[in-house]
Amino acid sequence: MTAPPATAGAPVPRHLAVIMDGNGRWAQRRRRPRAIGHRAGARAVNRVIDFCLERGIGALTLFAFSSENWGRPEEEVGALMKLFLNALEREVDELDRRGVRVRFIGERGPFAEPIRARMAAAEAQTLRNERLHLAIAASYGGRQDIAAAARALAVEVAAGRLRPEQVDEAAVGARMALADLPSPDLFIRTGGDHRVSNFLLWQLAYTELWFTETLWPDVDAGVLQQALDDYAGRERRFGLTSAQIGAETTP
Ligand code: FPP
Repeated sequence: MTAPPATAGAPVPRHLAVIMDGNGRWAQRRRRPRAIGHRAGARAVNRVIDFCLERGIGALTLFAFSSENWGRPEEEVGALMKLFLNALEREVDELDRRGVRVRFIGERGPFAEPIRARMAAAEAQTLRNERLHLAIAASYGGRQDIAAAARALAVEVAAGRLRPEQVDEAAVGARMALADLPSPDLFIRTGGDHRVSNFLLWQLAYTELWFTETLWPDVDAGVLQQALDDYAGRERRFGLTSAQIGAETTP
């Protein structure tokens, strides 16, 4: 009989959030255009999806394009848009077959109509899937997400449907992107920087953060497993004491 892996029985995050950084440097090190790095990054996206399906991680949120990324050189933005459209055309049937629900968070308005139409079609096609909930953050910003929730609440208060004293954490949280999912348990950022860069600011309040020097296109199951092993060894206290956490888990 083969021995179980060292991580058997270890807690697995229910929701993994990832900043996929380092595509540009990966390409530059090979003296190739940045777009080639993004293309290699798209292959790594498939690997992280496979990993989540294999490990039973129920939700994966990927930061594909920030609100600020529109300011990159026109050529790079164009290459990324082409890549998104190709991925939407090529990958959605397979994701659907594998039980992946696809959703986009962020502002749709700035995207060209063919991309917006494909986004909506991908969401509709995969709506009933439950094996993995894949959220792609595109033209997304955490501050913009909080501002949109505040605006929605202001509209309800102004219309008399909500009293100001009913505006509490639960009311704000219910109006944020991904309100129907548990908050991310684990956040991974590749590429060596130690920042959250305006990603899921509200939702990351108690998330465990893990950083690696590995550039996104080089990420594979081994790197992702390192993050999971590290996560499995963390004590999540949510503001309580270690003794309280121990008491809570004692039957
Ligand atoms: C950050 O690396 C990465 C991006 C801005 C784009 C992320 C896109 C992908 C991984 C490709 C496709 C995604 C999907 C969902 C199909 P960077 O360009 O900032 O790298 P650098 O820090 O080395 O310059």
